[in-house]
Amino acid sequence: MAVSGGIAAYKSAELVRLLRKQGAKVRVVMTRSAMQFVSPLTFQALSGNPVHSELLDADEENSMGHINLVRWADVLVIAPATANTLAKCSHGLADDLLSTLYLAATCPVYVAPAMNQAMWHKTVTQENIQKLKSHGVIIIGPEQGDQACGETGFGRMSEPLAICNRLMDETPTRCLSGLKVLISAGPTREPLDPVRYITNRSSGKMGYALANAALKAGAKVTLVSGPVMLSPPVNADLISVETAAQMHAAIIGKAPAHDIYIGAAAVADYSPMITEQGKIKKQDDQTTLTLTLQKTRDILAEVAQLVNRPFTVGFAAETHDLEQYAKDKLTRKNLDMIAANWVGRDLGGFDSEQNALQVFWKNGQKNLAMTDKNQLAEQLISLIAERREYERGNKNTA
Ligand code: C5P
Repeated sequence: MAVSGGIAAYKSAELVRLLRKQGAKVRVVMTRSAMQFVSPLTFQALSGNPVHSELLDADEENSMGHINLVRWADVLVIAPATANTLAKCSHGLADDLLSTLYLAATCPVYVAPAMNQAMWHKTVTQENIQKLKSHGVIIIGPEQGDQACGETGFGRMSEPLAICNRLMDETPTRCLSGLKVLISAGPTREPLDPVRYITNRSSGKMGYALANAALKAGAKVTLVSGPVMLSPPVNADLISVETAAQMHAAIIGKAPAHDIYIGAAAVADYSPMITEQGKIKKQDDQTTLTLTLQKTRDILAEVAQLVNRPFTVGFAAETHDLEQYAKDKLTRKNLDMIAANWVGRDLGGFDSEQNALQVFWKNGQKNLAMTDKNQLAEQLISLIAERREYERGNKNTA
């Protein structure tokens, strides 16, 4: 939030409080004249973060340079925006921290103007507003009513609650902002010979939906996928594999550089001991054929054993005793979380558009009701972000 120097700055203090209440993290930048109206201490106390004001202050630049400050943000809101600030932003001036942040911002920018009604109606101000709109800036208000200067008309800053609601409605929850998420998806194929393989009914839909949800939540996503009939999520780093061994190699290599690993793939538990070089021929005198399978490596359990392990989430697809198996896997594989679903009944799961999940972690659980896999993925991603934050908080205070 950037606060410029108008009497409405006092309302912005309330806006910070409302945004925090909604779970937003807020950093405040003030212009010098804003500090004449409200003390930076007010904003520091309400936001829980130091207030930034100087562009050329070495200490402030060290703690969080202006580029980092605006890179950090999912949204920049300038409230109140004075006529002077609007003029500077619309013309690309960058002679203080606020105007420089505006120029450096690549996130959505909201502006809540506040000024005397005559200043608001002045042609040049209206031209500046039109210019900002044409640059993609979203203008909130101003409202009509009594003004601090004693006049009546347009120029009052919109109420903090209205601004807060607008921001919350229009800003997607970016709970994984800045995090790297590794996801496995789909089935694996274990070759018997050059033309045959053993596989399973996994469609990859849940893993792909999770990749999309993680991207939407602001994460950088690496998707290691078995063979599926789905189009890859735009902006994810896709690694296509076929066998459990290839999936193992790709994931173990990548996992230490990621913050979260979600093992949504249906990895083969066993693969043929021998892959025949030539096609296995039908034998007229044999009515049975015995295949010898060997256990594959458990990717999920190995990720959870890594020294620098990511927050590790597994899946459990079961036809019976779902809760018991899921909880057992959670402890046996040393996971942070496990998402369990029924398969093999008319209950969603493999190769279906819908699914329901029972999610377990140490000392807790949550049921996510049957719904479209995309929605379910968004719910699971929020839960993962929440649990990870909670556990990191506990570690940091321990
Ligand atoms: O033990 P089970 O295979 O049922 O556990 C399922 C979970 O383990 C899934 O998250 C799956 O991606 C993962 N898994 C794995 N490597 C295997 C087998 C399963 O990562 N070889």
